[in-house]
Amino acid sequence: MSTIKSELSFDMDNFHTPVLLKEVIENLRIEKDKKYIDATIGGGGHAVEILKLGGKVLGIDVDREAIGYIKDQELNIKNSKNLILVKGNFRDIDEIAKSKGFDKVAGIIFDLGASSHQLERQERGFSFQKEGPLDMRMDQELAVRALDLIKILTKRELYEIFTKFGEENRAWAISERIVSSRKMKPIKTTKDLTLVVGEAFGIGGSRSNFAKAQVAKRVFQALRIAVNDELDALEQALPKAISLLEKNGKLAVISFHSLEDRIVKKEFIKYKEKKLGVIITEKPIIPEDHELKKNWKARSAKLRIFEKSLI
Ligand SMILES: C[S@@+](CC[C@H](N)C(=O)[O-])C[C@H]1O[C@@H](n2cnc3c(N)ncnc32)[C@H](O)[C@@H]1O
Repeated sequence: MSTIKSELSFDMDNFHTPVLLKEVIENLRIEKDKKYIDATIGGGGHAVEILKLGGKVLGIDVDREAIGYIKDQELNIKNSKNLILVKGNFRDIDEIAKSKGFDKVAGIIFDLGASSHQLERQERGFSFQKEGPLDMRMDQELAVRALDLIKILTKRELYEIFTKFGEENRAWAISERIVSSRKMKPIKTTKDLTLVVGEAFGIGGSRSNFAKAQVAKRVFQALRIAVNDELDALEQALPKAISLLEKNGKLAVISFHSLEDRIVKKEFIKYKEKKLGVIITEKPIIPEDHELKKNWKARSAKLRIFEKSLI
């Protein structure tokens, strides 16, 4: 692994707490010297365990801060010589894997969504609870931020994003409010948007703060999915991941909301029908109570696993 230190200025503690760690590791059945891909390395929780057990890991992340964080942790990671890091999008998992000699692997993990680091760093603009620029790019090289979408899109286009990616049934009122508000004052920060959403939702009655927060959460989720083209990336990546697996290789995917989970479920059924292998998890694995007690953020996690049986 590269020894170049990145220039990180943020607090490196609590980058991310891995979710369903035991369940992922047990099901991947890690073997010494076999190759594995962590397509969303984040803070390295899953990758570090695979390395400890003697596996070789190709770690991918689209966020340069995640890659920089892992590089800075090199000395603390057991068997870090067996880790290769690539900053890239998992939608290109096949090309990235082949370029690093990981074209036949024993297991692949996708742990979808945002890391705690991304959600909690206010400069990244992911959270409606933290004041910051309305950015939301996981890949800092993307040209379009959430504030650009809010500025440029038509009422109908915003409505479609909030409906499709946020499943928000007040999407029309919110889009209308955004379009009228931005004529008077640009919507540039997380707080600007949260206020506008609150106004749209609160019109005609006093709604509870909890209900307002739920709407804001769905609107932010929808924008994040749109900015990062998350669902398309997942749909493109899964068949490529299957093709990289060797016989008995396993694909593990952790999703955090129904839109992602639906894609994973549908894709796995497709691979089963094509007789590529078996679905190990007829029902998704969810965190046990003791995990939720320690990490409430894991509450919506669902793990699905597919095992390839054909080459
Ligand atoms: C939930 S975190 C992963 C946490 C990691 N498993 C751990 O235990 O620390 C998800 C990570 O996936 C990355 N990510 C999201 N979409 C991606 C994509 N299309 N390609 C590559 N990385 C992506 C995010 O930048 C984030 O760092």
